[in-house]
Amino acid sequence: MPPASQTTHIRLPITPEFSLTEFLRTDEAAVIEHLADKEISDRTTGIAFPYGPEEFYRTMRTVAERAWGHGGCPLHFAIRNSDHFFIGCVTFSDLVENHSAEVAYWLGKPFWNRKITTAAVGVACQFAIERWNLARISAPVFDGNVASARVLEKCGFEFEGLMRGHYLKDGRFIDARLYALLAEVLIPPF
Ligand SMILES: CC(C)(COP(=O)(O)OP(=O)(O)OC[C@H]1O[C@@H](n2cnc3c(N)ncnc32)[C@H](O)[C@@H]1OP(=O)(O)O)[C@@H](O)C(=O)NCCC(=O)NCCS
Repeated sequence: MPPASQTTHIRLPITPEFSLTEFLRTDEAAVIEHLADKEISDRTTGIAFPYGPEEFYRTMRTVAERAWGHGGCPLHFAIRNSDHFFIGCVTFSDLVENHSAEVAYWLGKPFWNRKITTAAVGVACQFAIERWNLARISAPVFDGNVASARVLEKCGFEFEGLMRGHYLKDGRFIDARLYALLAEVLIPPF
């Protein structure tokens, strides 16, 4: 794993109370606690259930490898409260500098429906567009995940179409609604 010192230290305010920073190894207990709620894994791909220390180690390896591949700038952002506790995340994948990336996110259940993710995704996307000169950010959402689709719409993403059977999860094909944001239509405030 690349050394942690190779990652950039970043703090992006999203509201007076919440901010985005890089992931930290000390986030382990908080991440495991939030991901003990199966609903988060059920609505996403790539999050194991159950999720424990071994899974967190793997996540941190991916975090470090992706940052390493992009000059030390993290592609994974922790959402933190005013006490600096990890409460959720916004992550980028399939990053092609000067072109495009995919965004994903989840938030610990006690914090849902307070518009935190909308603010976090808006700020993270603005950062990503400027940092990597992106023209497009896409986000496939499980069909039926109304809250997630709503987050994207509030950030200026537009629905582009239904991708039938796009995901295979737990032996089941899942349709995904594809949303995308074009850089010129990012609309603050989020
Ligand atoms: C999706 C998720 C990140 C949303 O986080 P959040 O901080 O609660 O989102 P926000 O409060 O910013 O916005 C949620 C919006 O969805 C709406 N919403 C929530 N549940 C809803 C439902 N069942 N039906 C309709 N709308 C719903 C809220 O009213 C709000 O819209 P509004 O501001 O217009 O009222 C969170 O629910 C989560 O972590 N889910 C599990 C993981 C996941 O689905 N990740 C996304 C994978 S693509």
